[in-house]
Amino acid sequence: MNKASLFLSVAVSLAVVFTVYAYASRTCTAESVTNDRISAEAAQPAAVPVKGKVLVVYFTSPETDGVDTSSGASRIVADGKLYGNTEYVAALISQKTGGDLFQIKMANAYPGTHKELLDASKREIDAKVRPKLTSHIQRLKDYDVIFVGFPNWWYDMPMPLYSFFDAYDFTGKTLIPFCTHAGSRFSQAEKTIAALEKGAKMQKGLAISRKNLGEAETAIQNWLQRMGFGK
Ligand SMILES: Cc1cc2nc3c(=O)[nH]c(=O)nc-3n(C[C@H](O)[C@H](O)[C@H](O)COP(=O)(O)O)c2cc1C
Repeated sequence: MNKASLFLSVAVSLAVVFTVYAYASRTCTAESVTNDRISAEAAQPAAVPVKGKVLVVYFTSPETDGVDTSSGASRIVADGKLYGNTEYVAALISQKTGGDLFQIKMANAYPGTHKELLDASKREIDAKVRPKLTSHIQRLKDYDVIFVGFPNWWYDMPMPLYSFFDAYDFTGKTLIPFCTHAGSRFSQAEKTIAALEKGAKMQKGLAISRKNLGEAETAIQNWLQRMGFGK
C-alpha cells in the first residue's frame, strides 16, 4: 500500500468511528429523556383519531408522608389544591378532553403512611384479593372513550383495578391507560388490561414518572393531540 492510500484508509476509518460515536451519544440522550418523562410506547401517533364522549377513570391512594414530587411523595399541590399523583394526571386529561371524571373508590380505604400501605397492598396481592368497590359508573353506554389511570404498585396495577375490570365489559369502547410510577412505568399492566378487556380497542398508554409530575402537562397535551384530541 502506498502512502496516499494508507492516509486515505486511515481518514475514512476515523470518519466512520466519529460518525457512529456521534449518533450513539445523540440517540442515547434523546432516548433517556423520552423514557424518563413518558413511556416510549406513547411516542407513536394513533393510526385513527380517537372520537366520542370521554370518561376519565382513575384510582389514587395518596400517601400522607409528604407533598413533594422530587423527593418521591405521592401528592402534589397545583393551583392551591392537593391531589394524589394519578388524580392530578386524571384532572389534566379531563380538562383537556372535556371528559367526565370517575374515581374508583373502595369500601376499605388503604392506610396513608408509606410502610403500612406497602404492607397492606402486598398482603392483598399474596391473597389475590379483589377489593369491594363503592363507586359505580352510571350509564357506561353513553361513553365511547375510557381513560383508565392508576399508580404502578408492585410492578402491576393495584388490586382495585382488577375489581374494576372484573366489573365492566368495555367491548367496542376505546380504552386508554395511563399511570404514574417511580421508575417501572407500566410494567406489564397494558398487556394485562388488553387480556382482561379483549373486546376493547386499546390505545397506547402514557406513563408519567412521579418526579416529572410538575412538568407533565406538556407531555399529556402532546400525547392527547397525537390521538386526535384538541384538533
Ligand atoms: C404500595 C406501593 C407500591 C409501589 N410499587 C411501585 C413499583 O413497583 N414501581 C414503581 O415504579 N413505583 C411504585 N410505587 C410508586 C407509585 O407508583 C407512585 O408513587 C405513584 O405516583 C403514586 O400515585 P398516587 O399518588 O396516585 O397513589 C409504589 C407505591 C406504593 C404506595
